[in-house]
Amino acid sequence: MDDMINVSLSQAGDRVVILDQTKLPNKVEYIELATAEDVYQAIFHLKVRGAPAIGICAAFSMYVLALSMPQEDYGEFCREFLKTKEHIASSRPTAVNLKWALERMEKVVMSDPSSPVPKICEKLKKEAQAIQQEDMDMCRRIAEYGLSLIKDGDGILTHCNAGPLATSRYGTALGPIFLGKERGMDFRVFADETRPLLQGARLTSYELERGGVDVTLICDNMASMVMKNGWVQACFVGCDRVAANGDTANKIGTSGVAILAKYYGIPFYVLGPSSTIDLDCPTGADIPIELRSPQEIKEKFYSQPMALPETKCYNPAFDVTDHSLITAIVTDQGIFREPYTSSLCGRRE
Ligand code: MRU
Repeated sequence: MDDMINVSLSQAGDRVVILDQTKLPNKVEYIELATAEDVYQAIFHLKVRGAPAIGICAAFSMYVLALSMPQEDYGEFCREFLKTKEHIASSRPTAVNLKWALERMEKVVMSDPSSPVPKICEKLKKEAQAIQQEDMDMCRRIAEYGLSLIKDGDGILTHCNAGPLATSRYGTALGPIFLGKERGMDFRVFADETRPLLQGARLTSYELERGGVDVTLICDNMASMVMKNGWVQACFVGCDRVAANGDTANKIGTSGVAILAKYYGIPFYVLGPSSTIDLDCPTGADIPIELRSPQEIKEKFYSQPMALPETKCYNPAFDVTDHSLITAIVTDQGIFREPYTSSLCGRRE
């Protein structure tokens, strides 16, 4: 996947270029984001998605948008910057990386009121680049820690997409698999298709196929069978927000996988960068869960609607896996285990 950069600046440096993930696997198409509305819509419609990638896109977007904000007056610039930041932050509520990256960008603006605005813009660019580079470094470290938990030939089940498309490089849940592959190891990956938006089918199996990894696509309701067959030695999933007690929000269906894993005695690992840990959230109950349109369940991937227009739908984009079901949380700062309240809080900064 190294040839696919999911978020970058345009050559002229005045647009954000993203790989449109809604077009994969059938089409590799890059689009340019020039306005705050472009950015909001791209994040809302999952053209760019995955917790770290959303944060990186938002950071580059704030830099690009700052270039066309009032450059003469710091106060006016700040007001415009904060308004735009709030708008982009509201595009998706669950992944804390969005808020985290936007707050880093805001700090750059607030910490330097005496600088001319064009100088502040230069610093914003550097900050966005640093966020992206740090994500690459964090994913690499997560991959090393994750790899230490599995052995050559293991079967790994994953849910949703936490690969390079969702991050900068390697990914989180898929990082150990790609790193192991580089070192001559082979794993057998089972990718849940991940209803209703099919990130597992469209993105995870695509990334793994391209990386030469043995991947088998299954419908979400087949995970139990695959586990019962003895084909899964570990579950690796990503995360959108980890609360201080270890409760973890990730793609809808993740908690079901964790419950199954517990039943079959299979270790269930959550992998994510430290930017996804939110110590301000005491428990999973404090994590806002995004609700999405019924259209995604009834129509989006079908040639005709699969339910009556009046049929009600419940479409939460994420669920929370209780910390008691998580064998360990693998981050760039190490492998954390119960009790998470003390292990996560005592991390190296
Ligand atoms: O709705 P999505 O596709 O943005 O959901 C993504 C996930 O749930 C991922 O597992 C999570 O963001 C981690 S990505 C490294």
